Amino acid sequence: MQVFDIVPVKYENEDLFVLDQTRLPGEEIYCKLKSKEDVWEAINRLRVRGAPAIGVAAGYGLYISVRDFDGDNLVKFGEKLRDVKNYLITSRPTAVNLEWALLRMEERYKEFCCETALNNDIDGIEEIERLKKVLLEEAHNIRIEDEENCKAMGKHGLSLLKKGMGILTHCNAGTLATAKYGTCLSPIYLGKEKGYEFKVFADETRPLLQGARLTTWELKKAEVDVTLICDNMASQVMKNGWVQAVVVGCDRMAANGDGANKIGTSGVAILAKEYGIPFYMFVPTSTIDMNTRKGDDIIIEERDGEEIYKMWYKKPMAPEGVKTFNPAFDVTNHKYITAIVTEKGILRPPYKESIKKLMDGE
Ligand code: MRU
Repeated sequence: MQVFDIVPVKYENEDLFVLDQTRLPGEEIYCKLKSKEDVWEAINRLRVRGAPAIGVAAGYGLYISVRDFDGDNLVKFGEKLRDVKNYLITSRPTAVNLEWALLRMEERYKEFCCETALNNDIDGIEEIERLKKVLLEEAHNIRIEDEENCKAMGKHGLSLLKKGMGILTHCNAGTLATAKYGTCLSPIYLGKEKGYEFKVFADETRPLLQGARLTTWELKKAEVDVTLICDNMASQVMKNGWVQAVVVGCDRMAANGDGANKIGTSGVAILAKEYGIPFYMFVPTSTIDMNTRKGDDIIIEERDGEEIYKMWYKKPMAPEGVKTFNPAFDVTNHKYITAIVTEKGILRPPYKESIKKLMDGE
């Protein structure tokens, strides 16, 4: 599919690029990230966004920020790596994939140190060069695994859907938000290949318009039937009987199944319950945070209020200096989630138990 020619994060000829999603759908421009500051800015400004894609960018971002280390001491290398990790982790607070990927890179560094200690290898330029290769490989693995996980979620997700269904989605949890294929849009692409003829309704997703700018862009590229609606039209579309399933992504799922996702998601879930429509949240295991017990403990990012009334308008569409409240995410209570789709299978309530089993590998 033509849409998969475009990947949000790519590492090519030793350079890191992200597709600048703030420029979509008008321009398809990749920007080169050369430093930790570039990576921080790209994540913070949503040039690269969507929990799994942020994780992929963070893995490579950490690597490119430490690869210039020119000493021969593993401990000093570790100090640099930790500094970069602690810096990048501050770029956005809600999507757990950011810290998940950074901690995974740090863990790989620690393993390497243990291995070299066991082999009695001494510090040296060669060891450091070997470590750099290992870290790049780990960044590649994060990307490759995410791609595989998205494919698997596509298969599991499709088993919940039927031919010709109307499907509503919020924000963008498609190929642009992951390494490739997307989480909740993955079954829609797979269904397209198999002739399912879904009719997708994309919420515009104020204030940053990921639904309007990104979801419709990628679905149109894939020639999926997509209709753009404003967020406040979802109820009417459901009432009309045009929606048989809601699919959304997730930025951080707590151990009890409460899931933080783009602001507006919880409202859609409540509406779906009212109209008796199944609500499916697509959550790779990299997005499940077992250290967060319940949704109330998830930190919700608050962004500059100017995004609400200035960013997409030639002139401010509200009085200058107006008081604003701009949370980027909300938490959907697990009681509204019909099923959680992971790469390892579909979870049903009670989620506390089913998530624990899955994460314990049972
Ligand atoms: O602020 P964003 O655009 O990064 O928010 C993205 C979302 O809320 C997605 O639904 C979520 O990250 C899942 S992406 C597979």
